Amino acid sequence: MIPIARPDLGQEEIDAVSDVIRSGIIAQGPRVKELEERWSAYCGVKHTIAMSNGTLALMAIFDTLGIGPGDEVITVAHTFAATANAILFTGATPVFIDIEPDTYDMDAKRIEAAITPRTRAIVPVHLFGLVADMDAIDAIARRHGLVVVEDACQAHGATYRGRRAGSFGIGAFSLYATKNMTTAEGGFVTTNDDALADRLRVYRNQGMRARYQFESLGYNFRLTDLAAAIGLVQLAKLDRNTARRQAIAAAYDEGFADLPVGRPTVPDGRTHVYHQYTLDVGPERDAILADLRAGGVGADIYYPIPVHKQVYIQERGLHADLPVTDHAAASTIALPMFPGMSEEDRATVIRVVREAVLAHAGVGATA
Ligand SMILES: Cc1ncc(COP(=O)(O)O)c(C=O)c1O
Repeated sequence: MIPIARPDLGQEEIDAVSDVIRSGIIAQGPRVKELEERWSAYCGVKHTIAMSNGTLALMAIFDTLGIGPGDEVITVAHTFAATANAILFTGATPVFIDIEPDTYDMDAKRIEAAITPRTRAIVPVHLFGLVADMDAIDAIARRHGLVVVEDACQAHGATYRGRRAGSFGIGAFSLYATKNMTTAEGGFVTTNDDALADRLRVYRNQGMRARYQFESLGYNFRLTDLAAAIGLVQLAKLDRNTARRQAIAAAYDEGFADLPVGRPTVPDGRTHVYHQYTLDVGPERDAILADLRAGGVGADIYYPIPVHKQVYIQERGLHADLPVTDHAAASTIALPMFPGMSEEDRATVIRVVREAVLAHAGVGATA
């Protein structure tokens, strides 16, 4: 089976981790600091605060901003549940709005209708590696005095009018095993706000500024030097690996150009880093997915049950009417996408997808 994802790890990461072990400084130390500085330079921000994972990066941002019970945060439901969970962690309420049918990102045109006196923040998710429409989102946020928190967990290095994901508002990244760069588990917060960065650094370490002086409530959200050592190697490879993902996407685009499927859209002025490559194959999705798996293609669905339809969200009475999100959940398939994919694997995916789609074509696939 060709897997949907495979981390690009090798001797360089092994050597980097071995060096850390030999150094005796394995928890947060100089490697974390170096990774933060390099990520800030890469991302084009003043500050990066490394965290234990992307979920905690989001939680730390919301909590540090003072978002809590009685507040509302506008976000999307076509995302990994962590986006909403981080909001719920603070006691605030996620308010779900629909996505654009072509990019799968937040539909900025729907934001203003969701704003109430309780709204504190807007959280676009740069889903699958494509930055949401930040000009439109920023303009609305400014007009209403709201904070923008970018869930950039899937969008390392993606650009929008030349600026990187995570450099518009306050950014949160995941460094989970299958992400475009990884530290096994890990995360970043990115910001240009000096005071917020300072609060986040203290918050990440139990609220402790001077030794055993806890100036505020904080927790242990630290990253380790073992992880950061992997991250430094991964960051050095990120542009090369992004180019490989983009080449696979270009081959897929070409291979599927004549099929009755919806392919990923990249609006002008943006670069897509293809954390996922997703096709809209229409109502025969489940039959097509079964054929792909039978043909050795490890395709998957992101996400089969959108967040607003999850039991724990419904139990909280957070109902939303999101037809575009529901359509995406019912008709899309994500294909294998990882930098180490061979030409042969790529050709196999294209052949098996073509056969499966054409076998079910006419049964109702969307154009
Ligand atoms: C969109 C999105 N948000 C948040 C997260 C949470 O990140 P993590 O798994 O590192 O906690 C992820 C990744 O898993 C994600 O894809």
